Amino acid sequence: MNILVTGGAGYIGSHLCVELLKLGHKVTVLDNLCNSQISALNNVSKIVNIKLNLNLKKLSFFNFCKADIQNIQDIEKIFLSQSFNSVIHLAGLKSVKDSVNYPEEYISNNVNGTLNLINVMKKFGCNNIIFSSSATIYGNSKEIPIKEIAPQLPINPYGETKSKIEGILKKTFELDNTWRIAILRFFNPIGAHHSGMIGENSNDIPNNLMPCILKVASGEIEFLNVYGDDYETHDGTGVRDYIHVLDIVSGHLMALNFLKKIPNIVTLNLGTGVGYSVLDVIKAFEKASGKKIPFNLTQRREGDIAISLADPSYAEEIFEWKAKYNLVEMCYDSWNYSLKNQTKRSNTFR
Ligand code: NAD
Ligand code: WQD
Repeated sequence: MNILVTGGAGYIGSHLCVELLKLGHKVTVLDNLCNSQISALNNVSKIVNIKLNLNLKKLSFFNFCKADIQNIQDIEKIFLSQSFNSVIHLAGLKSVKDSVNYPEEYISNNVNGTLNLINVMKKFGCNNIIFSSSATIYGNSKEIPIKEIAPQLPINPYGETKSKIEGILKKTFELDNTWRIAILRFFNPIGAHHSGMIGENSNDIPNNLMPCILKVASGEIEFLNVYGDDYETHDGTGVRDYIHVLDIVSGHLMALNFLKKIPNIVTLNLGTGVGYSVLDVIKAFEKASGKKIPFNLTQRREGDIAISLADPSYAEEIFEWKAKYNLVEMCYDSWNYSLKNQTKRSNTFR
């Protein structure tokens, strides 16, 4: 298949490109590099041994175009260069904190950007899309584990953008049921490619758990702040459904196959169904890395919830997909990537 991957230079996108190329798909990445570097795609190219082409006039198996989904001409330029069988749409801003400070930017980038993409897809007759939604759209769900039918009650502007985009995709299918749409709600992706050549490398100051643990392990910060030890969880710290980025990728591959069957719209959780607390993650990381992670129990972080845990049974049923990596493996791959990229990391973090 010929596949457009928006946001393909990012954390999940770069891992996805590796697997798509390995399977023989032709891949074009659209990314404005606002939260990624071209070096990630150069490393993808090294892993799969396929040259990265930067010239849309001389297409090859793996192409990159620096483009912004907020600019409709940017998207059209890519669709004019070739016809796509499918779009995997990962481009978006993902910081909950920034979304609270700059909600308009999140609407413009995530929602308007997606509307542009869908309009261009309609114009060029491509009606097959896989969209990266998030567990964050459930907000503080009463139902644990969370099924896809749970109400969408996002508690931050980032989550609201995901919910709005899901609504737009549903409307698109209602108006034209020849579309093939998969909405995948990722829980908490961590881990990295086993080679250690690609991984999570955000341009922002990290505030998610794994990047913060990595900073402690590499000696950049002295200890980890554990936000809250009085939640109603088995040890009082927040529980999440961490999932290996490679399992997120395999979920996308299953979605591609599923959409080949018949026009459809499907919404699925991508999680393991197993919840781990912050203290569990620290323990697993220590086991995987042999490093001690000093921590400080501190007050709850504003906007956090006690538990986020997927019920992944629907994805198991219809995609025959199941996450296969355990927490220690996820920690090991995160640490391996960090070790191999420490100099670059300390230069990149602002
Ligand atoms: P990421 O920031 O590493 O990748 C997103 C990519 O999109 C980046 O390369 C960025 O430069 C690009 N991008 C952003 N805005 C763009 C625009 N306007 N035009 C073109 N490119 C643009 O994030 P990720 O972790 O790989 O996440 C990918 C997608 O999955 C995002 O949509 C995110 O919201 C979603 N998601 C991520 C997580 C997570 O925790 N990583 C969880 C749930 C959902
Ligand atoms: C996990 C747990 C923290 C840092 C966010 C987004 C969500 C999704 C994934 C995209 C919580 C605790 C964290 C630290 C800590 N992204 N923690 N010390 O908040 O579940 O989800 O990222 O869609 O939308 O909201 O992930 O990794 O920030 O936190 O104790 O230094 O780790 O309190 O319990 P979260 P996280």
